[in-house]
Amino acid sequence: MPLDQSTYKIPVARTVADLRETVSAWRAAGLRIGFVPTMGALHEGHLSLVDLAAQHADKVVVSIFVNPTQFAPEEDLEAYPRTEPDDAAKLAKRPSDLIFGPNAAEMYPEGYDLQINVGGVSEGLETDHRPHFFGGVATVVAKLLCQVAPDVAIFGEKDYQQLQVIKKLVRDLSLPVEIIGGATGREADGLAMSSRNVYLTEDERARAVQLSAALKAVHDQMKSGATIDAARDLGLSILRAAGFDPIDYLEVRDADTLAPLSNTSRRARILAAAKLGTTRLIDNIDLEI
Ligand code: PAJ
Repeated sequence: MPLDQSTYKIPVARTVADLRETVSAWRAAGLRIGFVPTMGALHEGHLSLVDLAAQHADKVVVSIFVNPTQFAPEEDLEAYPRTEPDDAAKLAKRPSDLIFGPNAAEMYPEGYDLQINVGGVSEGLETDHRPHFFGGVATVVAKLLCQVAPDVAIFGEKDYQQLQVIKKLVRDLSLPVEIIGGATGREADGLAMSSRNVYLTEDERARAVQLSAALKAVHDQMKSGATIDAARDLGLSILRAAGFDPIDYLEVRDADTLAPLSNTSRRARILAAAKLGTTRLIDNIDLEI
């Protein structure tokens, strides 16, 4: 099947074979390939990763695939926003060269069984609340990296534990790709951009800003010498007052291992996940120590 050049202003590969044909031609021409995996419903945070990819590569592939294996049965797979024509229009205005938009049967053909368990940094935090999640993410990202075979792939710091899981996946599988983290894109009031923010009611949207405010409060408390427990207590009280329930976690961790801070920690990360109504939000910020 030839590449679909007509539907959007940017070509779309629907099959791995078509993707490989295009990417191989670029590689044969000596070009460096950048890759940004997404589940679509693109916002400025995603698009900033595309810009970053273009700073590290000559050609940029963006995948749009709502990966069923990272959703638990009770999660929002069916409701997850699917806006491919809008996504393609946004990508056409950015330095991107190809969309890879496979369907589920292309990614997981009949008889597909492989599951990757990354261990280490994938344990705790998100996994305590979404035990299926990183297995699904690691598996689809391993497949995508094999399919696209990029020189560099960009992931957002917004999903900080995911970024660490991908770095470990690549290290442990000796995949020949450089993983770069991109800064979190935020709305003017500080709310981290997310495809799931569209689920928030007007009232929830107004309160959602308290998630980044709580992280900042923990940060500032730690900077002024408070203990982790005291800083966390303040952050938790801000989240409770804003109506977040349940609060899955609010933690200060080693930025590399995501283990509790220790004497050998060189950098720290403050990470939180909590629900506002039916919408689960996550965010994190850096803490210099
Ligand atoms: P998705 O949530 O669509 O995010 C795609 C990429 O965009 C991820 O690397 C994510 O960390 C990044 N991203 C999301 N919000 C961001 C923001 N506000 N600023 C900067 N980057 C942001 O994460 C996934 O999809 C999936 O798990 C995926 C890796 C594609 C595997 O299915």
